[in-house]
Amino acid sequence: MAEGREAPIGVFDSGVGGLSVLGEISRLLPAESLLYVADCGHIPYGEKSPAFIRERCAQVADFFLEQGAKALVLACNTATVAAVADLRERHPLWPIVGMEPAVKPAAAATRSGVVGVLATTGTLQSAKFAALLDRFANDVKVITQPCPGLVELIEAGDLHSPVLRELLAGYVQPLLDAGCDTLILGCTHYPFLKPLLSQMIPPTIILIDTGAAVARQLQRLLEKDQLLANGPARQAQFWTSASPEHFRNILPTLWKPSDIVRSFSR
Ligand code: DGL
Repeated sequence: MAEGREAPIGVFDSGVGGLSVLGEISRLLPAESLLYVADCGHIPYGEKSPAFIRERCAQVADFFLEQGAKALVLACNTATVAAVADLRERHPLWPIVGMEPAVKPAAAATRSGVVGVLATTGTLQSAKFAALLDRFANDVKVITQPCPGLVELIEAGDLHSPVLRELLAGYVQPLLDAGCDTLILGCTHYPFLKPLLSQMIPPTIILIDTGAAVARQLQRLLEKDQLLANGPARQAQFWTSASPEHFRNILPTLWKPSDIVRSFSR
């Protein structure tokens, strides 16, 4: 098993959304060996209870530890709000990077003073999100929009069908009508909708997601512990709790072709 700098990094999402974060990590840290678990058998996390999500995260974290992972990235806003505190308590010495909707940068970027947040129901209902608003959104108006249905369509490989377009427009248009000039993509699945979104919103609207910030935070933590890998670029490996074949088929659209897709059966 690889150790120290050469050990892998575990990256986790309820499904394919975390591939938007994996892309940022592999661009910034190409020498890292990346292990990705997609809990596709249990999507959408956005409609599940925090206790259920915590249990799934604990299972995945144990799996990554068995693989010798030197760090964990929760590439999922919904899993972070439900489980990051629990995971840090269980594994106090393990570098764990979570993610949450980018309220602070959005509050700094807006000129209209109205910010829209597209995220899952679970994220928007969480105490962690309420605390984020308390801390960073005092001077701006924040309008939240849960987006049930989007994750399922993206998981099916749909990034621009008429059904998806209509669903997305129903979520975004009220935010624009309310004066939002900045939209937070608060779920890691949504950056894959940027091409479609850019066809339905004015070019002046600012879209903010946190994938790149997560990659930089991971880099900082690894640097601090002298755990950054050196050497040539490595291929990522994938596990899914649903069909490996479906995941393999979707990878060329959301990532790049890969044969290293296995079944995750916990
Ligand atoms: N990708 C996840 C997030 O960032 C949630 C998707 C789901 O509902 O399973 O919130």
